[in-house]
Amino acid sequence: MQTLTKPLKTIFPLVCCAALALSCNTAIPAEKNEPEAWNQAQPLYPIYSSSFLLGNIVSPGDIGGQRFNLLKRHFNTATAENHMKPNALAPSSPGGAYRFSAADAMVDAVLDAGLKMHGHTLVWHQQTPSWMNSGAGMNREQALSNLTNHVTTVVTHYKDKLISWDVVNEAMRDGLSTAQSNGDWKNCLRQDSPWYTAIGPDYIEEAFKAARAADPQVKLYYNDYSLNNAAKAQAVYNMVCDINTRYANAAGRPLIDGIGMQSHHHLGASPETVAASINLFSKAGVEIAISELDIQAFDARGGNTAFVWNEDAAQRQAQQYAAMFRIFQQHAEKISRVTFWGLDDRTSWRSSSHPVLFDKDYKTKPAFYAVANPGQY
Ligand code: XIL
Repeated sequence: MQTLTKPLKTIFPLVCCAALALSCNTAIPAEKNEPEAWNQAQPLYPIYSSSFLLGNIVSPGDIGGQRFNLLKRHFNTATAENHMKPNALAPSSPGGAYRFSAADAMVDAVLDAGLKMHGHTLVWHQQTPSWMNSGAGMNREQALSNLTNHVTTVVTHYKDKLISWDVVNEAMRDGLSTAQSNGDWKNCLRQDSPWYTAIGPDYIEEAFKAARAADPQVKLYYNDYSLNNAAKAQAVYNMVCDINTRYANAAGRPLIDGIGMQSHHHLGASPETVAASINLFSKAGVEIAISELDIQAFDARGGNTAFVWNEDAAQRQAQQYAAMFRIFQQHAEKISRVTFWGLDDRTSWRSSSHPVLFDKDYKTKPAFYAVANPGQY
């Protein structure tokens, strides 16, 4: 006993410290909350390298400059913010040439830098040339042909370069009742999508089928916002289960590989609802990506989006990021990737509500340290 007790007493504090260090990612102490320049701060992605990929958005104008260096230091995956959308790649009028050069240079630079690239997006009701799916003379046959041509052309062009594609974006509508979401998912689709109007609900599976045929390796995602809303999540779950049951062996596996939860949040979003949707989607047997994460610095419950950007707001935002990342850590085995939608508050699409980790001068915000060390925040 004596001989055992003594070494244990000596070793125990060391073991505890090591365990604490591992569990808390103590590379960045919790109290370290002072703004640092992006290139002084501890790189973020290695903290999560055993859990999931950590991504951010990229544009051609970022390549080679400070923004690209920030991306490379803190993230290991990139998503094109706009330059791989249909209105960037497809001809502006029927019969014209595809315009790949800007996106190609961007994708090649990302891959040369050793990051992975996720494709965004092929089929969407926004940022798409209208000739593809609407206007005089448009019918199902023409729209379906335009859709499959676009998917085939773009997926073939980037074959073997990307890890995954958002094949269909935002097809489900908002404001669904529980009864609606428990019914036929086809009745839950947004009716204002020109793809839906021209083709009908099967535009979704047709897009996925064309993508799988063009590149059987690349992972195929369905991507949408507000997926922590239980009714919308249920409709997406029902759609994915139905399509994957009917196409259970599409080149060796079910047709849809993953669900992207965009995750454009505000301070009032409940982390428990995020956890509930992650659990639901994992029951569909698909990967889950947190695909466009940002957290606006106000609590929009009750429709109130007024806020003042001050230290208190920055701390409350950090708390919300920490709460979300604690959920992501707890469910890490179900999550393939967490991608932020913005390198800095100045250029974020929701710039006025200061939603991301770096401020307009590329300095770390409290939210950065919350993400780096959510257990201690
Ligand atoms: C946004 C871009 O960030 C903006 O620059 C652009 O003006 C509009 O689109 N959901 C998506 C993204 O899937 O493509 C959107 O990106 C944000 C919401």
